[in-house]
Amino acid sequence: MLLNKLSSWETLSSKAGTYNYNHLDQLLDDQERQKQLMFSSLEHFVIDFSKQRLSKDVLDELIQLAKDANIEQKVNDLLSGEMVNQSEKRAALHTALRAPSSDECFLKDKQFNKQIQKSLNNMQVLIKRIHAGQWRGFTGKPIRDVVNIGVGGSDLGPLMTTFALQEFASEDTKHINIHFASSIDGAQLADMLPKLNPETTLFCLVSKSFTTIDTLSNANTAVTWLKAAGAHESFLKKLHFIGISSSKEKMSDWGIGTSNQLLFWDWVGGRYSLWSTVGFSIALKIGMSGFREFLAGAHSVDKHLASTKLENNIPVLLSLIDIWNCNFLSINAHAILPYDGRLKYFPSYLGQLEMESNGKSVTINNEDIDYHTCPILWGEVGPNAQHAFYQLLHQGTESVNSDFIIAVKRDAGSSIDEKKSFIEHHFLNISNCLAQSRVLALGSSALSEEEQAQLSSHQQYSGNQPSTTILIDQLTPFTIGSLIALYEHKVFISAVLWDINPFDQWGVELGKSIAKKIQPALTNNQSESLDASTAALISKINSTMSEVVEQNEEEQP
Ligand code: F6P
Repeated sequence: MLLNKLSSWETLSSKAGTYNYNHLDQLLDDQERQKQLMFSSLEHFVIDFSKQRLSKDVLDELIQLAKDANIEQKVNDLLSGEMVNQSEKRAALHTALRAPSSDECFLKDKQFNKQIQKSLNNMQVLIKRIHAGQWRGFTGKPIRDVVNIGVGGSDLGPLMTTFALQEFASEDTKHINIHFASSIDGAQLADMLPKLNPETTLFCLVSKSFTTIDTLSNANTAVTWLKAAGAHESFLKKLHFIGISSSKEKMSDWGIGTSNQLLFWDWVGGRYSLWSTVGFSIALKIGMSGFREFLAGAHSVDKHLASTKLENNIPVLLSLIDIWNCNFLSINAHAILPYDGRLKYFPSYLGQLEMESNGKSVTINNEDIDYHTCPILWGEVGPNAQHAFYQLLHQGTESVNSDFIIAVKRDAGSSIDEKKSFIEHHFLNISNCLAQSRVLALGSSALSEEEQAQLSSHQQYSGNQPSTTILIDQLTPFTIGSLIALYEHKVFISAVLWDINPFDQWGVELGKSIAKKIQPALTNNQSESLDASTAALISKINSTMSEVVEQNEEEQP
């Protein structure tokens, strides 16, 4: 049902009027309110919503909204494998990928779990061969570098998680370097290939469809590079390529033999696929036991989602806060601010997870929507963002909702003195994280009366910017698995409330097909069918490129 037809909509709309005028500096000293808005119902996490612009009465009404939307049934549909992705007539079973055993999975058909365990074991076999130095390149040397070639969900999740968990690299991976190439312009390969040894480099082609031109063009460049180094066409793909896809046929057509193929299912959405064999780079980095810990962390959130009443259900609460900001306070910008350099790719990962899932404007039944759905989401490592865009957050004209994410326990450095200096970093980091969310909420009233009196107008902070603070006891494979699953389920709950399908992405197709129409004009200059702007740009580009070609020809010996 459309969000604004749910019975609690009117009550919440009238309450929003109050909270649009209630400044957070009138709410933040209420200790009873603070207790009511801090939650530790999920192991390893504390979530503080008390810097959000609401109180318990609103949260209670939002919980009622979730009940009106039949959230509990929808969660059950998701977890049990119902066709929740209506436009593609599929289930969305990323949760099944991380159930430790069949009796733990929520599926009615327990057989699935055996297939999933088998696919993980197939992945483990390839990883063990690489770790043991048994995977040899075309000159017989063991593999030393693995390049994950993929884009979107075939890149962002593995990249983000592999980077975040580097300190958990298993002993047998210390000698393996993992790299990521995704962009269609070839920039990453252009930078990376000259530094790699073709004899000891393995390419992992990750693509659910195995038709994505970004990935296939990078793959072809890798083939050219290997051939130039003397690898013979007849065996270079067998020795230097692994394929990870839901399409066995397309991997075979490209030239990847079945022994070098890892499969996953079409009911795994691309941006939800890092729990499957798409997580190959993660498992290569932290080992299969670490990867199973990662899965277990996500599974613990699945169990929390399935068994916790709405009032304490963290993904539900995260979603309801988003709905309150987007649909009742008209705050449609959402900043993700991890105070942890290890999570530097987390904001861009969430960018796809949230905006490709919920950037929709028709309902699951194809009705037009006349309310906001997914906000604009972006982010950066918090302490660095303080030197980048916090000026806008503090003194700009836009209302922004922020998520502050920080690990409470950190352990870095080897010597005593090193450990001491990293502890100093840690305290600086925590104090900045807490200070920024406090100033965003209170503005200048974070200062004493006397200090405020000294401020001239350009030094004033209006405050009242809402934020949520997520404390993680420490960053481990388990807790990062939980963190990702928290956001996955928040996205799903929000989609249910917005009455949209979070598992398809029809909006990304037209750009790709138009690109195919434009490409010939770059060589034959035929742009009559294009708009004046695009045609003029092509003309300018072609004339510049022809100058470069002429110049190159003149310089040819
Ligand atoms: O174009 C968007 C998209 O389909 C994403 O949903 C997906 O994660 C990415 O492209 C890559 O797709 P594939 O894994 O099929 O190469």
